[in-house]
Amino acid sequence: MAPTRQWLASRDFKVGEDLAEQGYNAEFPVIMVPGIVSTGLESWSTSSEARGFFRKRLWGTTTMIRAVLTDKDRWVKSLSLDTTTGLDPPGIKVRAAQGIDAASTFIPGYWIWAKIIENLACLNYDSNNLFLAAYDWRLSYYNLEERDNYFSLLKMRIEHWKQRQGKKTVLIGHSMGSEVVLYFLKWVEAEGPKYGNGGPKWVDEHIEAFINVAGTMFGVAKAMTAFLSGEMKDTVEINPAGSYVLERYFSRKERAQLFRSWAGSASMWIKGGNDIWGDGDHAPDDPDNCTLTHGRFFSFQEEHGDHVHLSGNLTANEASDWVLERTPVEFQRMVFTNYSYGLERDEKQLKKNDNDHTKWMNPLEVKLPVAPDMKIYCLYGYGKETERSYWYTQGPFEPDEDAPDAADPVCEADDCKYNNGSSLRGPLDLPLFEKHWIDTSVNLDTGAPKIKNGVKMGEGDGTVSLISLGSMCVEGWKHPRWNPAKIPVTVHEMLHQPETLDLRGGPKTADHIDVLGSTALNEAILKVASGRGHEVPNNFVSPIQKYVKRMKWD
Ligand SMILES: *[C@@H]1O[C@H](CO)[C@@H](O)[C@H](O)[C@H]1NC(C)=O
Ligand SMILES: *[C@@H]1O[C@H](CO)[C@@H](O)[C@H](O)[C@H]1NC(C)=O
Ligand SMILES: *[C@@H]1O[C@H](CO)[C@@H](O)[C@H](O)[C@H]1NC(C)=O
Ligand SMILES: *[C@@H]1O[C@H](CO)[C@@H](O)[C@H](O)[C@H]1NC(C)=O
Repeated sequence: MAPTRQWLASRDFKVGEDLAEQGYNAEFPVIMVPGIVSTGLESWSTSSEARGFFRKRLWGTTTMIRAVLTDKDRWVKSLSLDTTTGLDPPGIKVRAAQGIDAASTFIPGYWIWAKIIENLACLNYDSNNLFLAAYDWRLSYYNLEERDNYFSLLKMRIEHWKQRQGKKTVLIGHSMGSEVVLYFLKWVEAEGPKYGNGGPKWVDEHIEAFINVAGTMFGVAKAMTAFLSGEMKDTVEINPAGSYVLERYFSRKERAQLFRSWAGSASMWIKGGNDIWGDGDHAPDDPDNCTLTHGRFFSFQEEHGDHVHLSGNLTANEASDWVLERTPVEFQRMVFTNYSYGLERDEKQLKKNDNDHTKWMNPLEVKLPVAPDMKIYCLYGYGKETERSYWYTQGPFEPDEDAPDAADPVCEADDCKYNNGSSLRGPLDLPLFEKHWIDTSVNLDTGAPKIKNGVKMGEGDGTVSLISLGSMCVEGWKHPRWNPAKIPVTVHEMLHQPETLDLRGGPKTADHIDVLGSTALNEAILKVASGRGHEVPNNFVSPIQKYVKRMKWD
């Protein structure tokens, strides 16, 4: 074995072994909720042309790559959801892989949850007290329950453990998985009673802790570009293999279509609008001596002959409307019936939102359950350049077979209006069949912020902005309106210090995915699981505490 490999191998199980020696042991059962695209998807179609794929992974493993190479059209058809129902198209059946293997490694050699599983195993975790709650991340959260009973099954397992082992459960969400956990906590309050018990006390009685690992609490900037123009390289960097497949073999338009059909991904739309992300003059996370604020979420330039001029800009609120207007009507309807991205301060409305499933994945529009004995741990990386805002450009007018491209498009959903009653037409009012893409010609190495290929870089863990990772944990949940029971929130930031020898960054990486193998994160998870969560300290390495003071919470 080469020395590097040996050194890497010797790190396996290390955190777990060390803590086991010091007397740490399994206390609470643990459920892991993976992020978007981490869970493998397998084919259950029995039609003659799909039989070759029966029970094989169409997403994850090398089967995926083979399927794309040999039969791209059928692969796309199988993995796209019906844009009206949000479910499998007729004649096709794809389901999430189940069990620990569904998201422990993505393709051979590329681990996701495997390190955490190994380390937990050292403390006497096994399939009787450790579960990976795999889900079909393409579905809207609402449809996860409708089709797969995802949330009611999760609830049953937790109740079963409580009954048989007398223990509450620790829930770990990673990335989008943290939004799924939040949705679950609200779902169980509102819908739980329909399936046996549930209701307002359930969470306090059944959940020991929610470990929020790099949660996309306020969404991700790049989700917006993915819906708009299919530019999803880093959106799906969440999985390099997925990203490779999509970038290499698909046009921007094909990618945008596929991504939009995945209703689950719309949960990562940015939340909180200008109050959180900044206005046209300032953003909370603007660098010192800022030359172009991140508050201008999209800036546009146009070429006229041989000179280029700035033709407009949009703040987070405006960008949100603008992107939505440029998506097909079915997508708009899906968004309006499944999700909500605002910020709610009114206590009466927050109370109403307890019964509105469209709000449950948005921590700014729902109260945490009244669970004073529960604890929240927010663990995330900092110190890796992260996409934050964009330069866009417009192409010539082109006809497009997508729905919004009629001459005078309207959003047809009944409730296709913002809370203030204004309709969906945006500020720039550009023709809808104009093509848009990130303007890769804009580069500025010396600017603040830096601009790389049209992307204005900000702070975060390489995938998710610091604002989304930390703001709710550091500030939002200090407000009784969003956390009435004053559930204690520990924030432990980890500085990104990757090893150059290790492709995955080694013990001190804080990259969005690789952090799942880092020493600090594994230690924190093991401590909470063994009932010693009080040993996980608050730790700040980013300026988040300064940034949250610049946001409009009240
Ligand atoms: C959520 O969107 C899907 C389309 O993806 C739709 O079928 C479903 O009815 C929506 N949910 C609700 C509650 O309207
Ligand atoms: C900002 O600009 C001022 C004046 O040019 C300069 O003195 C200062 O060092 C700059 N700060 C940073 C962080 O670049
Ligand atoms: C950004 O947009 C605002 C409002 O449309 C406008 O007043 C401002 O001049 C624009 N800024 C730039 C740099 O284009
Ligand atoms: C309503 O809200 C939208 C989106 O936040 C905003 O663009 C619009 O200007 C608002 N309209 C009014 C009348 O306040």
